[in-house]
Amino acid sequence: MAVSTQNTAAVPRVPNFLSRARSVLSAWISQPQQVATVAPSSSAVTKCIAHRTCIREASLVVELGPGMGGTTQSLLQQMRSDSRLLAIEKTDSFIPSLQAIDDPRLRVQCGDAVDLSEHLATHGLGTPDVVVSGIPFSSVPPAVAQQIATSIHENLRSGGVFIAYQMRSTVRNFAEPAFGSADVDRVWWNLPPLKVFTWTR
Ligand SMILES: C[S@@+](CC[C@H](N)C(=O)[O-])C[C@H]1O[C@@H](n2cnc3c(N)ncnc32)[C@H](O)[C@@H]1O
Repeated sequence: MAVSTQNTAAVPRVPNFLSRARSVLSAWISQPQQVATVAPSSSAVTKCIAHRTCIREASLVVELGPGMGGTTQSLLQQMRSDSRLLAIEKTDSFIPSLQAIDDPRLRVQCGDAVDLSEHLATHGLGTPDVVVSGIPFSSVPPAVAQQIATSIHENLRSGGVFIAYQMRSTVRNFAEPAFGSADVDRVWWNLPPLKVFTWTR
């Protein structure tokens, strides 16, 4: 991206961790159920999600609930130069920070994960190899959570991977009927400690 030296105020900047933390806390105060965390994920979580063969080999990754973009940047660091990442975020106040990530592989969609099929069609990106989700399945109404999990299963390619990082295990109730049992990693170095569930379709 060309950057003008005369009008730097207009150039969007990717916020640092502290600035992201302030924004996440303030969004959590106004929408606690939706934002579902008081701080951005730690580097231990982002590494557990992104440092994987399935991410390095993927043509298309979909990220549900990218927040301020820390997880998004970690995924992009691992992904191929010819790959694509579609990031779908429901909280409006996080969108400018996601749009400030200057990477031609990234598409940012303000919207609801429940409309995953429509968002994929709008962007014409094809079938995802991996879906990564930070969506709080324990605080989403159960019928909506089930719709999201079913849609992830329907949209993933055969052999594709679904990764969900969560405080609780509620996601299992919605994902396991279609995906079967999960592999579970625990990341203690995070506020709060998280479980990372992995399913292969
Ligand atoms: C636990 S935070 C994860 C944020 C970030 N990826 C991180 O790890 O720091 C969950 C994110 O999911 C978003 N979210 C919640 N429900 C959503 C939905 N139905 N569709 C899309 N995003 C949603 C929230 O706005 C929030 O950004």
